[in-house]
Amino acid sequence: MEGVVGEALAPLPHRLQELLRPLVGSGGKMLRPRLLIASAVLTGGDEAKKRKVLYRAAAAVEMIHGASLVHDDIIDEAALRRGHPALHLLRGRRAAVLAGDLLLARAFALLSEPGERAELLKLLGRSVALLCRGELCQMTSRRRWELGRRQYYRIIYLKTAQFIASCCEAGALVAGAPEAERRALRQYGANLGLAFQLVDDYADYADSPYQGGKPAGGDLKQGLATLPLIHLLETRPSCLQALRAAPAELPPELREALRRAAVENGSLDHTRAAALSRQEQALRALRHFPDSAARRDLAAIAKAVTGRFSAIFRG
Ligand code: FPP
Ligand code: MG
Repeated sequence: MEGVVGEALAPLPHRLQELLRPLVGSGGKMLRPRLLIASAVLTGGDEAKKRKVLYRAAAAVEMIHGASLVHDDIIDEAALRRGHPALHLLRGRRAAVLAGDLLLARAFALLSEPGERAELLKLLGRSVALLCRGELCQMTSRRRWELGRRQYYRIIYLKTAQFIASCCEAGALVAGAPEAERRALRQYGANLGLAFQLVDDYADYADSPYQGGKPAGGDLKQGLATLPLIHLLETRPSCLQALRAAPAELPPELREALRRAAVENGSLDHTRAAALSRQEQALRALRHFPDSAARRDLAAIAKAVTGRFSAIFRG
């Protein structure tokens, strides 16, 4: 995979390659390319003649993901990503915006190489457009404390789940799988993506300061209502009143009080249950396929996503 990414960046000057390379893969879980490849293998797409196209598509989705994180960290003014200073802090915002653009452009150049399926380009192009819509939707939802569950799920579907679903579908597409298999893998990916984001939103309420290489508590700080808070506000109207009365920049004491209230109120247990239910739905979608090593890989990925729970909260 690193080899394919290296090839995709090779036409760029050395200085730019050095800027972009740490954004792809390093320290990450490589979740999206792994899903794409496992989905292709599951649906019979690992023949030698398809392998080049497959690895190119896998490298492209990791590059798209890397670009989205660079831009996300600029939007969020985040200091850390994967335990390291965010690119915009290292190189400045202007360079970071352009580095993200460049990575995105190289990813789509990879997808346009001869032999690539036009459908793949269409699928991933559409998915990136939805990613941006999710991010815009989240931006306009800031400090809208009454944000309902419907709107919350819409945001996490757009910003996370649909791209993961598209990575799975892209694998099936490269394999030339029939429509029903593509649909089942999309179903698996969408539910896995929702579970993944629910775990991330749960982890943001952890009592330890760093989660997955980034500080916890960022969602409340940014004015984002995620499921733990939505559940808390549904069940404890006094918390909603406190938020409405608070200044735009929430004081740290209020953020800590809300975090504790979410734990005591069972709002985190509720979020955990929601993630487990999505995980179950992802596993159910896999039943469309007979048992195989690739199906077991995909099931193991779904299980690993919620396996983080015990590590998030101490005791
Ligand atoms: C991280 O989620 C961010 C995303 C899943 C999507 C970001 C998308 C964009 C910035 C749109 C632009 C896209 C491209 C391809 C250039 P999060 O904010 O919930 O997680 P975090 O806590 O890790 O930041
Ligand atoms: Mg973010």
